Amino acid sequence: MRLNDDQICEISARFLAEMKKGLSVESNAAAAVKMLPTHVRSTPDGSEKGQFLALDLGGSKFKVLQVKVREGVGIRKGEVEMEEKIYPMPTELRSGTGAELFDHVSECLKEFLQEKKIDTEKKHPLAFTFSFPCEQPSLDQGFLLSWCKNYRVRGLQGKDVVRVLRDAICRTGGMDMELLAMVNDTVATMMTCGFDDPYCEVGLIIGTGTNACYMEDMRHVDLVEGDEGRMCINTEWAGFGDDGALNDFITEFDREVDAVSSNPGKQIFEKMVSGLYLGELVRLVVLKMAKRGKLFDGHVSDALRTKGKITTADVAAMEEYRNGLKNTKDVLMNLGLSPSHDDCIAVQHVSTIVSFRSSNLVAAGLSAILTRIKQNRNQRVLRVTVGVDGTVYKTHPQYPKRLHKVVRRLLPECHVKFVLSDSGSSKGAALVSAVAQRLTSQSRKVEETLSNFKLGKEQLQLVKDRMRAGLEAGLRSQGPFTIKMLPSFIFHKPDGTEHGKYLALDLGGTNFRALLVRFKRQKSRIYHKIYTIPLEIMQGTGEELFDHLAECVCDFLDYMGVKNARLPTGFTFSFPCEQTAIDTGKLVTWTKGFNATDCEGHDVVGLLREAIRRRNEFDLDIVALINDTVGTMMSCAYEDPHCEIGLIAGTGTNLCYMEELKNIEKLHHKSNTADRDKNTLENGEETEGETRRSKMCINTEWGGLGDDGSLENIITAFDTEVDQNSVNPGKQRFEKLTSGMYLGEIVRQVLLDLTRGGLLFRGHISESLKKPGIFETRYLSQIESDHLALLQVRCILQKLGLDSTCHDSIIVKQVCGAVSRRAAQLCGAGMAAVVDKIRENRGLDHLNTTVGVDGALYKLHPQ
Ligand code: BG6
Ligand code: GLC
Ligand code: GLC
Repeated sequence: MRLNDDQICEISARFLAEMKKGLSVESNAAAAVKMLPTHVRSTPDGSEKGQFLALDLGGSKFKVLQVKVREGVGIRKGEVEMEEKIYPMPTELRSGTGAELFDHVSECLKEFLQEKKIDTEKKHPLAFTFSFPCEQPSLDQGFLLSWCKNYRVRGLQGKDVVRVLRDAICRTGGMDMELLAMVNDTVATMMTCGFDDPYCEVGLIIGTGTNACYMEDMRHVDLVEGDEGRMCINTEWAGFGDDGALNDFITEFDREVDAVSSNPGKQIFEKMVSGLYLGELVRLVVLKMAKRGKLFDGHVSDALRTKGKITTADVAAMEEYRNGLKNTKDVLMNLGLSPSHDDCIAVQHVSTIVSFRSSNLVAAGLSAILTRIKQNRNQRVLRVTVGVDGTVYKTHPQYPKRLHKVVRRLLPECHVKFVLSDSGSSKGAALVSAVAQRLTSQSRKVEETLSNFKLGKEQLQLVKDRMRAGLEAGLRSQGPFTIKMLPSFIFHKPDGTEHGKYLALDLGGTNFRALLVRFKRQKSRIYHKIYTIPLEIMQGTGEELFDHLAECVCDFLDYMGVKNARLPTGFTFSFPCEQTAIDTGKLVTWTKGFNATDCEGHDVVGLLREAIRRRNEFDLDIVALINDTVGTMMSCAYEDPHCEIGLIAGTGTNLCYMEELKNIEKLHHKSNTADRDKNTLENGEETEGETRRSKMCINTEWGGLGDDGSLENIITAFDTEVDQNSVNPGKQRFEKLTSGMYLGEIVRQVLLDLTRGGLLFRGHISESLKKPGIFETRYLSQIESDHLALLQVRCILQKLGLDSTCHDSIIVKQVCGAVSRRAAQLCGAGMAAVVDKIRENRGLDHLNTTVGVDGALYKLHPQ
C-alpha cells in the first residue's frame, strides 16, 4: 500500500488521461470517470442574495437548513446566516424504495418548517445538495447514475431525483417549495469556500465518499453547447479504476472490501480512499496478520472478524498525536483482544499506512486537476484555492497536513491554498440557487416579453379569415382596399414551348438586376449582372432613379455585346402597380423603403422608356411588366405545371395566384376598362393554339393586410415602433410583421426593451444597438442556425458592435426565434386563405398544388 512519488505521479498522469476521456463526447460513454457538467458557470460574485431552505443528503448526516444570504435583519453585508437541524436517516431507508426515502426527506423538511416557525403559506426557494453521481441536463434536473456509499434505494436509478423529490413534497403537502437547483456536495463546497475566496475553483470531499469538482473551460466541455466561459465539472473521481486502470495498485484487501460492498466493481478509487472504507481496510490487514500469528499471539476475536468493527473514527483516534497508542489499545480491547505494546505499535502503523495511501491517492487526483487548470490557463505559476469538506479531512489528525505536503511537493509551481468549508456545503447550494433564482426570474421576464409574439391556433385562424375577407373585397371593386388584388394580365402559365432570347430587368430590393435569358427546348441559360441602388437614389427623384436604371442597362448590354439588338424585354418591378395591360401599369405606392418622387400614379414602363430615350444609346422592346411574385410563379411553373401560386418572402412579402376570371368582379364592372373591353379580355388577342382564357394571375399585394387596423390584436408595441420609424407609417402592416426588411428591426426593438429592463447587455444600450437596420436578414438567419455554437452567435453580435456575454447570446437567439417564427406562421396563415380559396373555386374537397417561392428570408433562414 505504500506509494512513492513516482507511483503517485504515475497515478496522477493516468487520472489526467481519464479526465480527458470523460470530457470528450466520443469517449464519455465508456469513461470510468464521468466528468459531469453541473451547469454551475461561475463562482460566487458577491451579488447573490435571498433566503433559502436547503436539504443535504448523501453524507454521514442528513440535514435540513435555512440559509439567508445577505437578507433580513441582523445580517451585515457579505454575511450568511444559517440554521440547521440533523435528522436521522434510518438504515432501512437506505435500501428501501425511492418513495419511502423521499417521503422521509420531505417530512423532515415539513417538521423543520414547523419547528422554526417558517411561514408555510409562502413559496420558498429550495436548494438540494445530493451527494451521489447524477447526470444533469440542467441545474434543476439530475438523473441518478448509480447508488454508492451504502445506499441502494430501489427504483431510482436513471430517474430524475429532483422530480422525485418534488413529487414527495407534493404528497406530504402543506408547504410550497420551488426547487431551484440540485448540486453535488463537491460543487456546493467549492461555492461555499468561493464566497470568501475568489481563487477557489476546486471542491474536494474526503468524507464517507470522495470526489472533486473544478472549473473547466467551456471549450473543453463537449457535452454542453457553447464555448464561452467556464463550467464546474463534477469529476466523480470515485469511479477511477472501475475499468481496471488501477489494477496494478490494488491489493487483496481492496478486492475484499469491494466484494462485500453494496456496489461491487464500482467506485474503486473511493474504496481505497474514503471514510466508509478506511476502517475496514485496516481491519482486514490486522485480521490477516493476526491469523498468521504476527499479532495478538495469533488470537483472533469474533469482533475482529466482523465487518465494520473498525471505523474511520477509530483510525483517526489511533493516529492521534499524543494519545494514539493509548487509543489503539482501547480500540483493540473493545474488539475483545488483549494487545501487547508491540501489537499496538504495529496496528497503529497499519492504520498510518492505510490512511497515508488514501491521502496520497487524493493528492494524485488533485494534482491532475490542478495541472489541468494550469494548462487551460496557460500560466506558468498557478494560484488556486481548494475548498475541502468531509469527515476524514475534518477529523483525521494527520490527514490534511500529509495531503497538503504531497500536493505541494508534486506541484512546486502552484500556490495551492486549502480552505476547510466549516459551514458545510449548504451555504454553497444556497448560493447556486440564488444565481439560479436570478436567472429564472430574468428568463421569466424575457419569456413574458416574447410571449407577445406567440400566436395560438385561434389567432392564426383569425388572420386566415381576415386575409380571406381581404382577398374577396379586393377582387370585388376598385375601392382603396387594404389588399389590392392587382390584375396582372397574365392568363397562362408557360408550357415549355417558349423559346428565344430575352432581356429581363428586375427592380425590387436593394439591388437592380439585368439578365439575358435564352430559352430552348425546356432549358434556359441565364447571364446576369447585379447593380446596387444607393439609398439616395431610392429616395431621390423618379427621374434620377430611372436614369440610373437606364445607365445600368446600358452597361449590361455593352457587357453582353447586344447593344443594338432591341431585345424583347420583361420588367420585373416588385411594387404594387395598377395594370391595364401586360405592358402598362401605374405605381400605386412605393413600399419597402423606396420613396422616389414623381413615380406614384405614373406608368412605370413609360418612365423607363423615357429614361432610355433620354439616354439615347440603345432601345428596348418592353413587352411585359410583372410583379416579382408573378415572375416567381412563372419561373417555377416552367418546371412544375402544378405551380399556380407565387410567394415572396424577402425584403418584402407578397403573393400571387391564378384566379378564375369570372371572380375578378372589378374587371367586369370597370366602366373604364379603357384598353380592352370584356370581350377582348376573355377572348381577344389569343395567339394560335392558345386555349380560351379562364384564369388570370392576381398580384394580391397582401402586405397591406391590416392597414385598416384589422391586425391590432396581434400587433405588438415593438411592431408599432418599427412601423412609426418606417418611410411609410401605417402602410403594409402585414409585410412589416413578416418580411426581411423589418424582422431585424423588430428584433432590435425587443433587444432595446430588454436592455432597458436590465435583462441584456448588462443594461447598457450601446451605440450600435441604437442604429436602425443593423440586423439584416442574413444575420438573423445566421444567428438562428441550428448548428451554430453560442460562441459564433457572440462573434456575429460582436461584428455588429454588440458586446455580449454567453447568456446574452442565448437571449438574442431566443428573440430572433420568436420574431421569425411569428413571421413564418403569419405567412402560413395567409397562404392557407389563398389555397383554400383556390380549392373552393374548383369545388374540390382536396387540392394538390405547388407554390413557387423566392426571397432571401425563405432561402437563407434555417427554419
Ligand atoms: C458535507 C456535505 O458538508 O460534506 C455532505 O453537506 C457531504 O453532503 C459531506 O457528503 C461529506 O462528508 P461526510 O463525511 O459527511 O460524507
Ligand atoms: C460519492 C458520490 C459523489 C460524492 C462523493 C462525496 O463518490 O458518488 O457524488 O460527491 O461520494 O460525498
Ligand atoms: C412589396 C411590394 C410587392 C412585392 C413584395 C415582395 O410587398 O409591394 O409588390 O411583391 O414587396 O418583393
